[in-house]
Amino acid sequence: MPSEINSDSFKLVTISYRSEAQLSDRWHDLVSLLEVSKLRNAASDVTGVLLFDGTYFLQTIEGPSQGTKRIFAKILQDHRHKNIKSFEMQEIEERDFPDWHMELITSDETSRIVADMGSLEFSYRRLREVQAMSVDVMRQRENTIVSPHFSGRSEPFEDDVSGDSNEPIGNA
Ligand SMILES: Cc1cc2nc3c(=O)[nH]c(=O)nc-3n(C[C@H](O)[C@H](O)[C@H](O)COP(=O)(O)O)c2cc1C
Repeated sequence: MPSEINSDSFKLVTISYRSEAQLSDRWHDLVSLLEVSKLRNAASDVTGVLLFDGTYFLQTIEGPSQGTKRIFAKILQDHRHKNIKSFEMQEIEERDFPDWHMELITSDETSRIVADMGSLEFSYRRLREVQAMSVDVMRQRENTIVSPHFSGRSEPFEDDVSGDSNEPIGNA
């Protein structure tokens, strides 16, 4: 087999898409999908995030071009979703989600980020906003891991993020 590996294979790229979920057993499907994704993505040095609002997926994957393309090709063929609308693959200098081989942003969290993914317009600007808010949610989630030094009150941190964050996500 000819070696296709050249410097382009290692360029960092990102690709995002939105699709409609077709899950037969929602949580079972999601758990197994994430398990596989984390392992496969780790093996290919791919990172990213998966938003799911109960109806739509919005996923970003990023990593070396070759591995990211290979994984995206798999995702495109998966029968657990349909009507995939993707952004173009873009080269990036650095990752948005360097710490997560794949993390699910749950429907509650997703509805705080974007109220209705069905009407999500596909402008890059809006995608960037959604991604930035996803990073915030994940960081807040990491903060809920109580350190041994934190012996104070035990209210859920969730309350901190629910507040007035129902702002529309700007004009697409
Ligand atoms: C919404 C969605 C997101 C997915 N994300 C990933 C992913 O990030 N990485 C991955 O390896 N597979 C992901 N998959 C699973 C792939 O489509 C595929 O099932 C998996 O790579 C195993 O493929 P194989 O059994 O043909 O080798 C995703 C599937 C769906 C439906």
